[in-house]
Amino acid sequence: MSLNDSQQAVAEYLDQQGHLASVAAFGQQHTSVSVYSTTTVVRAPEAVVRGRWSPGVHGFVGEELLLNHRRSGRDLGMQLGVSRYYGHDAVLSSANSSLREREKDAIALPEHRRLKGGLTSTVAGRRSGRQFSGRPASLDELATVLWHGQGITGSLPVPTPTVADAAVPLRTAPSGGGLYPIQLAVLVQHVKGLAPGAYEYQPHSHTLHPFHRPLAPVDLAEHVLTTDVEFDKVAFALVYVYNLYVNSQKYGDSGLVFALIEAGGISQNIHLARTALGMIGCDQGGYDKQKLEKTLGFDGTSRHVIHFTLVGHGEA
Ligand SMILES: Cc1cc2nc3c(=O)[nH]c(=O)nc-3n(C[C@H](O)[C@H](O)[C@H](O)COP(=O)(O)O)c2cc1C
Repeated sequence: MSLNDSQQAVAEYLDQQGHLASVAAFGQQHTSVSVYSTTTVVRAPEAVVRGRWSPGVHGFVGEELLLNHRRSGRDLGMQLGVSRYYGHDAVLSSANSSLREREKDAIALPEHRRLKGGLTSTVAGRRSGRQFSGRPASLDELATVLWHGQGITGSLPVPTPTVADAAVPLRTAPSGGGLYPIQLAVLVQHVKGLAPGAYEYQPHSHTLHPFHRPLAPVDLAEHVLTTDVEFDKVAFALVYVYNLYVNSQKYGDSGLVFALIEAGGISQNIHLARTALGMIGCDQGGYDKQKLEKTLGFDGTSRHVIHFTLVGHGEA
């Protein structure tokens, strides 16, 4: 069936099923079909894909990425990159990732709590909550949320000819090649024992490291464009920062795809942990990416904000 024929069939069906028309309208409005969509191995020319949000949008970078992140099944670079999990250089780069962490000025976090409640009821009980009460989180709650998102839970021995005891530290959420390209920034507002400000979570040492000295509170309302949250009542926000070169050097354009998947894994762990702790939280798609990167001091080239989550206590 050609594209025109299938569109005709959908239109006729929707004529008969009026209640589905609005659902389909959403899909049709926000789906642009490139003439290249049935082919791969093509860099779509910008003018081919027309965005419908505004006449100024000529193409979706996402389509370009999806068409090309694996250029072909015979792309030797990609295949080698993926299968070289045990390559010496890959192993040593993963095994030494703790060297990126800073000791000076690091703030030790309490050990994570062992959460009870059962996986099934926690998964079933997770809901996005936006009615924050302003009740502060304890340091123990923050530490527990962070550990469940990114904590170190084991290590994989990978001896190399030069380093017999090399081992890759492994975390709660999986990561392509054990490279862990995502860093969590914590924007603290109301956490007992912590001054408000931006901190980096350092999973290897289970510590927080301030982004700036002196610490300064970050105004969430200036960084997220939504009207349905009282930001001053949020206990802390988590910013997921992707360090492009940590995994792209190995995986090429697939590095970004892997990072987005990994951010989802980390985020789900965080939501399950805060659910089990009796806290509420909500992801926010409407953050101001460039402003956040500027506030955190990133160059906006090698490190990118790719996700944002609010956590706190709800009304009792
Ligand atoms: C990537 C992503 C972005 C989101 N952005 C927003 C947002 O900007 N504002 C909001 O209120 N909820 C946001 N959410 C939460 C969704 O609205 C919510 O997950 C969805 O309505 C399903 O409800 P549940 O999480 O309670 O199951 C986002 C969720 C995800 C995964």
